Amino acid sequence: MIKGNWFFIVKKGIILTNAFTHISSAEYQAVRLCEEFSRMNIQVCHKKNREYPCVIDGGNIVNEYSQYDFCVYLDKDKYIAQILEKSGLRLFNTSSSIAVCDDKMLTHIALSENGIPMPKTVPGALCYHPDGVIEDSMPERLISILDLPMIVKESYGSMGKGIYLVKTKNELIKSMEKLKCMPHIFQEFVKESSGKDVRIIVIGGKYLCAMERKNENDYRSNIELGALGRAIQPSDEYIALAEKCAKILKLDYCGIDILQGKNGGMICEVNSNAFFGGMEKATGVNVAKAYAEYIIENI
Ligand SMILES: Nc1ncnc2c1ncn2[C@@H]1O[C@H](COP(=O)(O)OP(=O)(O)O)[C@@H](O)[C@H]1O
Ligand SMILES: [Mg+2]
Repeated sequence: MIKGNWFFIVKKGIILTNAFTHISSAEYQAVRLCEEFSRMNIQVCHKKNREYPCVIDGGNIVNEYSQYDFCVYLDKDKYIAQILEKSGLRLFNTSSSIAVCDDKMLTHIALSENGIPMPKTVPGALCYHPDGVIEDSMPERLISILDLPMIVKESYGSMGKGIYLVKTKNELIKSMEKLKCMPHIFQEFVKESSGKDVRIIVIGGKYLCAMERKNENDYRSNIELGALGRAIQPSDEYIALAEKCAKILKLDYCGIDILQGKNGGMICEVNSNAFFGGMEKATGVNVAKAYAEYIIENI
């Protein structure tokens, strides 16, 4: 399109969501982003990630989505993400950032050695056989490092599923038995923050908005488990911490969860695919618009 002396190149994007997830918070993301892109006259199409768009054929990548200029990747499927990227499509977020955030231990490792406060965390010992024996020295050692009660997490859990608060050595052994054949972590329980945390949205390394999440009935502050969100203006310390994490992990967009420990904020988790429905409702901030504008400025 030519206007005056300027060339306006119309960009075309695709929004990909998981093939099998139909929960309303995931659908909301795509619908809201489509609305905001269309207000900006940007063509986007929303697809479920079930078209098998990428094939490695004759040693090369055949990408059915090569006509698009960008992809808002709201899935965590790392194979498709990596192939799309390798064949030249710009993904928001990038495949490597998504993969690191999807795995809670990889997130803590990536953030470590950067002055980021986090709960004390121990990677679980992986077992390759269901009949592998948990020696008594293993829970003993974990208790000596983290004390009881402690948190046990599946590395790939989300929405509060796959998190366990264990209060006794017996409960710890039971959860070790249950999780031994899948990636998992052990973590100090930040009791001062039980049932509440602060969720901060960062776009392009810059703070956008925040809410406090509080659950009166559970130690987990996930909205999906009944926590309520309330808009807050976080402290400068929290904002700086969230922006620093987003930069270290090279995230275009993320939701960062901060627990309030006795000596200040501690990073609980970084969500590359943070649902923003609850945040838009609690704060009145148009998160979809801010993300869509950032994307168009950065392709
Ligand atoms: N170490 C911890 N100490 C206290 N509470 C925690 C800890 N880890 C997680 N939680 C609580 O559990 C919730 C879910 O844990 P999180 O690691 O964010 O996993 P998910 O991906 O399932 O949201 C957190 O929002 C927080 O309220
Ligand atoms: Mg979380």
